[in-house]
Amino acid sequence: MKIAVLKETAATETRVAATPETVKKLIGLGAEVAVETGAGAHARISDADYQAAGATVAGRADVIGGADMVMGVQGPQVADLPGIKPGAILAAILSPFTERAKIEAYAAAGLNAYAMEFMPRTTRAQSMDVLSSQSNLAGYKAVIDAGEAYGRAFPMMMTAAGTISAARVFIMGVGVAGLQAIATARRLGALVSATDVRSATKEQIESLGAKAIFVDKVKGIEGEGAGGYATEMSDEYKAAQAELVSSHIAKQDIVITTALIPGRPAPRLITDAQVASMRPGSVIVDLAVDSGGNVEGVVPGEIVERHGVKIIGHRNPASRLAPDASALYSRNLFNMISAFWDKEAKAAVWPGDDDIVKGIKLTEGGKIVHERLLG
Ligand code: NAI
Repeated sequence: MKIAVLKETAATETRVAATPETVKKLIGLGAEVAVETGAGAHARISDADYQAAGATVAGRADVIGGADMVMGVQGPQVADLPGIKPGAILAAILSPFTERAKIEAYAAAGLNAYAMEFMPRTTRAQSMDVLSSQSNLAGYKAVIDAGEAYGRAFPMMMTAAGTISAARVFIMGVGVAGLQAIATARRLGALVSATDVRSATKEQIESLGAKAIFVDKVKGIEGEGAGGYATEMSDEYKAAQAELVSSHIAKQDIVITTALIPGRPAPRLITDAQVASMRPGSVIVDLAVDSGGNVEGVVPGEIVERHGVKIIGHRNPASRLAPDASALYSRNLFNMISAFWDKEAKAAVWPGDDDIVKGIKLTEGGKIVHERLLG
C-alpha cells in the first residue's frame, strides 16, 4: 500500500499529515510512504528527516502517482491531485458542509474521500479524533495569545513593591478547547470562571478549580446533550444568558469563546454593547471565528480593537502550534490506518459496515454516500 503525504497549500495552514515518527510506524506496518517536497517545512520537519525515517521525498505528481491513500490536513482541489487513481482514499479535514463542490468533485474523480472531522466520538475512535486533538491545542494557545495581547501578569503577585491582582478569565463554551483553556489559565494563576449550555460541564468546570456561571432561570441542555453536543437555544434562554453574561463580563480582563453547534453557524454570545462594558485593555479571543464567530465585531484573521478591547480572531488556531498539532494529527491518522491494517494483505482494509468507516466516508463509487450529506 502506497501512502502519499501532501504539502499543504492553504495560506494559514502550517500543519502536515505525517511526521517522521508516523512515517516510521507506517513503514513498520508494511506501507510505502512518499512525502511531497517541503511538506513539513512549517512544522519544522525537513525533507531529510522524512528520508531518514524511510520515506521517499518527491514532487506532487510523483508522490500521488500509484498512491492507494493520499493524506492531507485540509482538503485539496481535485485539480491539485494530478494522476490520483480512481478508488484511492483521500483522508483530510474536508469541511463537508462548506465545501460541497469539492466533495462532489472527489466523487466525480472516483475517490473515496474520508473526512477526519466526522470521526465518531466513541471510545474506540478516541485516538483518531482530530477535533479533540486540535481543539485541545487551540484552547491552550488561545490563553497564551490572550496573555500576550493583555500585556499584564496572570497570577496575583505579592511583592515587596506591592501586590498585583490576578487576571480574571472567563471561558464561554466548555468542550475540549474550553476545558484546556480553563486548565491553562488556572495553571498561569488566573481567577477563572466558565459557562456552557450543557449542565454536565458544571462539574467539569468546578473540578478544574474554576467557577461555574450558569443560567438558572431557564432550563439549559440536561447532562451531556445529544452526543455531547449543543443545539440552538430558545429565545428565552438566549435572553437569560445575555443578561447573565452582561453582568459578569464587565468584570473580566480576558474572555475566551469556543461555542460551536455542529452543522450550524456559531452562536452569538457577546454583543458590541457587552464589549463596550469591559475595561479598556481587556482581551477577547474568539475561537469560533472560522464558523462565523461568537463575538460581534470579530474579524477573521485579525486582531481588532473596539471600545479599547482587543478582539482576537486568528483563523485555524491549531495551526499556530504547527509541530505539536502535526504530531497529534499525524498520530490520529496513523491510529486509524493501523486499526484497519491487514497484515497479510499489507494494506488497510476498510469494511463498509464499520461504524468508523461509515462515519467518515463521504464518497465512493462516483457518488456522495454519507447520510449527513444526502437529501
Ligand atoms: P464543540 O466544539 O461542538 O462546542 C464547544 C462547546 O460550546 C460545547 O461544550 C457546547 O456545549 C458549547 N456551546 C454551544 N453553544 C453554546 C452557547 N450558546 N453558550 C455556551 N456554550 C455553548 O464541542 P467539542 O469540544 O467538540 O465537545 C463536544 C462533546 O464531545 C463534549 O461533551 C466532549 O466531552 C465530547 N467528546 C467526546 C469524546 C469521546 O467520547 N471520544 C472525544 C471528544 C469530545
